[in-house]
Amino acid sequence: MTSAVSVENLTKVYTLDLLKGRRRVVALEGLTLSIGEGHVMGVLGPNGAGKSTTIKLLLNLIRPSSGTARVFGFDPASADARRHVGYLPENPAPYEYLTGEEFVRFAGSLSGLAGAELTRRVKAVLEQVQMDRFTGVQIRRFSKGMTQRIALAQALVSSPRLLILDEPTSGLDVLGRQLIRDIIVAEKKKGTTVLLCSHIIPDVEALAEDVAILIGGKLVRAGPVSEMLSAEGSHVELVFEGVDPERLAALKPEVIQAGRRLILRTAAADARAVIEAAHQAQGQLISMQPIRNSLEDTFLEAVRSSQNKVGSTIE
Ligand SMILES: Nc1ncnc2c1ncn2[C@@H]1O[C@H](COP(=O)(O)OP(=O)(O)OP(=O)(O)O)[C@@H](O)[C@H]1O
Ligand SMILES: [Mg+2]
Repeated sequence: MTSAVSVENLTKVYTLDLLKGRRRVVALEGLTLSIGEGHVMGVLGPNGAGKSTTIKLLLNLIRPSSGTARVFGFDPASADARRHVGYLPENPAPYEYLTGEEFVRFAGSLSGLAGAELTRRVKAVLEQVQMDRFTGVQIRRFSKGMTQRIALAQALVSSPRLLILDEPTSGLDVLGRQLIRDIIVAEKKKGTTVLLCSHIIPDVEALAEDVAILIGGKLVRAGPVSEMLSAEGSHVELVFEGVDPERLAALKPEVIQAGRRLILRTAAADARAVIEAAHQAQGQLISMQPIRNSLEDTFLEAVRSSQNKVGSTIE
């Protein structure tokens, strides 16, 4: 399989000039990663983990301290790499005195689109992000979510082969979040490669086939999402009615919610004993479901077992 993105031993050290001398910030350390063409890769990590730094290296917005990055086999600095990339930054700052339509046109023309093709693409992406009603309005009059939508249209206008989205749902309402999901699914169908940085782990779980977890500038886990989820069936969730949790205490199930309905979690092997004890206490079993470990559980476990939770090493 060809790689849309391949990164080898990539390191980025920023220098901070402070009043009391210089400090080094190791934002990314020895990252090796590749994204197969047509794949959606989710990148997860706590604040300051190096996600945006990785993206900026792929876009040649910053240069690596050491190591290499390639986009479709090209150096990120080359026009060959940049022509195929659409980028939604984490804090988009479009020209405020342009209308949304003018800004997206401008972005499209920078990517080499012109004439009827440019007009057609601008119209299509404004409709896609549902901003076609606001074509005559200057961006400075937009709400945060509207600006985010225009920035997304800008990323899509050139029909890029690689779409890099840094926190795309930031500032969006529930419908906007659904829109982002629909756009990623549609892009994937077209064969676009997507690099998705997001703190919304269920979205990454639903959309990405591969995931990378960065913590403190280091890659701590990477692989198919399916391999990050523990096998089904090791634990079950039980729902009872009419049971006093005290009557089950000896079996030590994890109580999720105690009320009219009692929701418990227990190892699958202990489920039978819990159900029998509940029956003896005149309780009624409403449902029993296997629990699947979510990507969120895997992520939290990775963060918990790491020393460095927020930011990177400052030397
Ligand atoms: N221009 C800069 N100069 C100095 N340090 C920087 C610079 N940009 C980023 N850093 C540091 O590099 C580290 C990684 O930052 P980065 O923006 O890549 O994190 P992130 O994973 O995108 O975090 P978030 O989830 O908060 O967006 C942080 O410790 C940050 O303080
Ligand atoms: Mg970031």
